[in-house]
Formats: sequence, C-alpha cells, structure tokens
Amino acid sequence: MSCFSLLCGRKGSSSAAQPTGADIDLSSFKNINLYTYKELQIATENFSPANKIGEGGFGSVYKGKLGDGTLAAIKVLSAESKQGVKEFLTEIEVISSIEHENLVKLYGCCVERNQRILVYGYLENNSLAQTLGGGGHSSLYLSWHTRRNICICVARGLEFLHHEVEPHIIHRDIKASNILLDKDLQPKISDFGLARLIPANITHISTLVAGTAGYLAPEYAIRSQVTRKSDVYSFGVLLLEIVSGRCNTNRRLPAKERYLHTRAWDLYERGELESLVDSSLAGDFDVEEAIRFCKIGLICIQDSLQLRPSMSAVHDMLIGKTDVNEKMMSKPGLLFEFVETKDQGKQKGKVEEIEVENTSLMAMTSSERKDDLESSSFSGSTGSYATMTFTSIYDR
Ligand SMILES: Nc1ncnc2c1ncn2[C@@H]1O[C@H](COP(=O)(O)OP(=O)(O)OP(=O)(O)O)[C@@H](O)[C@H]1O
Ligand SMILES: [Mg+2]
Repeated sequence: MSCFSLLCGRKGSSSAAQPTGADIDLSSFKNINLYTYKELQIATENFSPANKIGEGGFGSVYKGKLGDGTLAAIKVLSAESKQGVKEFLTEIEVISSIEHENLVKLYGCCVERNQRILVYGYLENNSLAQTLGGGGHSSLYLSWHTRRNICICVARGLEFLHHEVEPHIIHRDIKASNILLDKDLQPKISDFGLARLIPANITHISTLVAGTAGYLAPEYAIRSQVTRKSDVYSFGVLLLEIVSGRCNTNRRLPAKERYLHTRAWDLYERGELESLVDSSLAGDFDVEEAIRFCKIGLICIQDSLQLRPSMSAVHDMLIGKTDVNEKMMSKPGLLFEFVETKDQGKQKGKVEEIEVENTSLMAMTSSERKDDLESSSFSGSTGSYATMTFTSIYDR
C-alpha cells in the first residue's frame, strides 16, 4: 500500500497528500492526525499575513479554521528539518499523545512538500509575554488571583511533564511567550517537545532560545547540561516575572534593578520582597502569598541543581501544602553579567551566536553529574561539552 492511499484515509485529511521523498509507510503512525497542505492553506486563507499571529524561533504561526470549524494555531517550521519524515512523526506521535489541561494540545501535523507544519489548539488570549511585556498597555488585567492561578497551573503542567509522562519530558524553553492563555485566562504551556524536532548537530548543541538569556539555567547555557532542574530554573524566572509584572531583563532600568534575579535577591536580603510585586496591582494582593511565591522563585533559580526543588515540590509549596525552606538559599548566579560582557555593543533583539568556552561553570560536580544522568532520553540531553553555541534574542 502506498503512503498516498494511507494518507487519504487518515482522519483529519480531507484531500490527497503527497509526502516528499521515497514512499514512506505511514501505517505505523495510526495515532497522528495528518493534515494536507491544501487543508492548511484553506484554513489560513493561503497563509495570509492577516492571519499571522506570531513568529518565533521555529517559524511563523497562523490562526486558522479547520474543516470542522475548529480554530487552530498553525505553526510553519522554518528551520530545515534534519529529520526524515519517519523520525519527525515519531516525535509528533509522542507529543500529540500527551494531554493535560495545562498543556497546549497538538492536534496533528503536515509533512507534505518538505514542509513541517504543526497544528495546535488555538488559545484566545495570546501569550503571557504579550500581557506582561505590554508595559501596562495590554488590554488584559491580571489580578493577583489570576496570577496565582497561572503560576500554580503552569507548575502543575510542568510537574506532569516531569513526573507523570513516561519517559519524562524536559521542556527546555519555559518562558513567558510559551505560556498561552485561553479565553478564561487559564494557562497552557506550549512548545513542549519542540526542541527535539530540530536536532542539534553532533559536535555542538545548538539551543534555539527566543526570549532572553535570563531564562537559561547556568549549567544549560554554559555546558548544555539539560535536566528537569533546568526547567525548574526557567520556571523560577517566570514565577518572578508573573509576580513582579516585569521582564527578567530590562536594560532601561538602573544597573541594580536591571536583572530580576538580582533585584529579587537584594530585596529578599533586605526583607522587602513585597516591593517586588507589580505596582499595577495597586496593593490588591495577598502579601504573605506573594512573598512566598517570590521565595519559591528564588529557590528555583539557585545555581546548584541540588538546591533547586523538583516541580512536584514547587507545586506543593505554591499551594501552601509544604513550607518554603530558605535555609540553604544563596544569591542566584551571575550568568547575565557573563553573557553581557560577550554582548557588548550588540543591538537589541538581534539574533547572534555566542561561543562560551572554559569557564568555571564548565566544571561539573559529581552530584550534578548524578542529576544529569536522570535526564530524559526525550530531552536530547547529551551531558557536558567543551564548547557550545547558543542563539539568543536579547530583550523582549
Ligand atoms: N496555540 C496558540 N494559540 C494562540 N496563539 C499562539 C499559539 N501558539 C503560538 N501563538 C502565538 O504565536 C506567537 C509565536 O509563537 P512561537 O511559539 O512561534 O514563538 P515564541 O513562543 O515567541 O518563541 P519560540 O519559538 O521560542 O517558542 C506566540 O507568542 C503567540 O502569540
Ligand atoms: Mg513558543
């Protein structure tokens, strides 16, 4: 049986699909919704710029209406896939099998004409980056109650990926633009598993990070060490952003306030964490809870992987089931300053490549190695490297 006939009979496909390359037997991919290019062309009115809702490191995203009337976010991957159709669909099968109320649903994909297009559930209220980064101009007001709910739900979604999915999934790119809000402002994590679809080459780990370097755990940025704890670090940054209503890096601010990490730590040491809370809330928040959230954020961004809690522990602390243990907490790392010295003279928002070599952070302690060993096979973790290249866009 040819793949052509297989695709024609697939749910979600209403017209003939013509995969490129040699005929591929897709009969083993029974659980994937394969869309034809034509279907997606119709859904997006020929990928009309009017329907474009965003652009990220992986490509353009269009709003579309599928044949059955369902709204979808259609992501056209721009990077040339180094994977064959089979490998790509193997990853898609895993991702689309994962369902959780706090994760964006992957409906299916299109693999025609050398294209790699992902079809996701559409979320009405855009990403948290737009809301928080709106500088008060966003039409959405996030009350403390809503923020609290977003933090807890995102923690719950990550906890699910880390501790309930088998084998566990490390997101690798937790940040405000990957937290989407539905019509009721319920959050869903997007792009989990995406890093695997565009694999790094063998000698360098190429980590495509759209956002700021501020979300990257030091061991991830410097030596490509990917573990669940690198997601915990990114979550900690996100948590501080949600509570404070600001982006983790703002070069327009005076030096000592520029980085949310150091700002939060300074206020913590002075016993003034309350003043980190977003002033647009005009004092309408639960002070004790907000301070607790800030402390949880600070614990998540500890340099040492061992000091960072698991996402289950983070979730329990957020809902007040367990106490926040501050005893071992120390000042978060200074990766920013390190990166910034490499960044001198570079333009805002410019994509660049940074070579990082032989820093003190290259040395891995034996306990860190232990954590590294528990990395998910799905994460693509490869341990320690002598050099790495990462692509970043600074300042949202
Ligand atoms: N499922 C979706 N529903 C609604 N809007 C979406 C959806 N997915 C993406 N978007 C919109 O498209 C924008 C771009 O998303 P995309 O994931 O391509 O880029 P990003 O999150 O900014 O960066 P990255 O490529 O690193 O994930 C998002 O910020 C959001 O506004
Ligand atoms: Mg994204």
